[in-house]
Amino acid sequence: MAADHGLTAGGRVSWDPALYGANNAHHRRHDDDFLASLPLPAAARVLDLGCGVGDFTVRLASAVPEGEVIGVDAAAALIAAARRERVDAAVRFAVCRAQDVSATFPPDHFDVVVSRAVLHWITAEEQESVLAGVWQVLQPGGRFRAEFGGRGQLGDLVSLLDEESDRVGGPVRPWYFPTAEEYRGLLTAAGFRIGSSGWVRLVRQRRSFPDQSALTGFLVSQVLVAYEIAMTADQLREFRGRATGRAIRELRRADGSFDLDFVRLDLMAIRPNAENA
Ligand SMILES: C[S@@+](CC[C@H](N)C(=O)[O-])C[C@H]1O[C@@H](n2cnc3c(N)ncnc32)[C@H](O)[C@@H]1O
Repeated sequence: MAADHGLTAGGRVSWDPALYGANNAHHRRHDDDFLASLPLPAAARVLDLGCGVGDFTVRLASAVPEGEVIGVDAAAALIAAARRERVDAAVRFAVCRAQDVSATFPPDHFDVVVSRAVLHWITAEEQESVLAGVWQVLQPGGRFRAEFGGRGQLGDLVSLLDEESDRVGGPVRPWYFPTAEEYRGLLTAAGFRIGSSGWVRLVRQRRSFPDQSALTGFLVSQVLVAYEIAMTADQLREFRGRATGRAIRELRRADGSFDLDFVRLDLMAIRPNAENA
């Protein structure tokens, strides 16, 4: 697996801000529920880890009018777009990998760290350093609220993409999709407490893409990049053509729409303080 997933400026394949912004409605449809699960004091200090183009980060800022919201992402192009497009919002954006937060922010600074659809892009081996960093930048008593791909995420689609990538000599299983038990173990080992106010669970969702262009937009803007970063131009052309063709043929419903099975690892974990240690 490529360590940086093409997120750095030197990568040939990288996240395209306009394409991602135009194809992330399937995430945005879950923003309200996510916010409802996370009561935020008006003066809270919040870090959005892997903020993409900042559309959800702006929602966080409205929820904490007297607080501070910072969005960070490893992809410089996405942060540049967020800065351009969110000029009116009370939000700051910075390029920073999830693995590097404790080198970037002071210890005990944030009340809440939020992360949406990011942590499955980070290898199993690096999760420990991410969680250690999040723990350090949270205040004692602070909360870590995240959702990302869990075991079984996009099962049929991932099998198809693995087959096509393997066929051209590309990578397979490019994401980290843990079970709830596995991730609970990592959180606990990092010092987080789950307790009665937290949770670590898999949540199944059916996300609908109304037509072929919505499915293709989803694939090209945020799925295929995980495979394509490790491919040559020839491999990429063949993989992309065959993978999108097969996905359209094999996953299309009779009415021309596509329903994909998302499985989210959904968690709320607490950095203990003197009261709840
Ligand atoms: C599917 S997007 C989600 C973006 C945003 N949270 C949202 O809800 O739209 C995944 C994001 O994870 C970011 N990402 C992947 N690996 C990362 C890492 N190691 N550190 C920080 N961000 C990362 C990508 O650049 C991308 O913006």
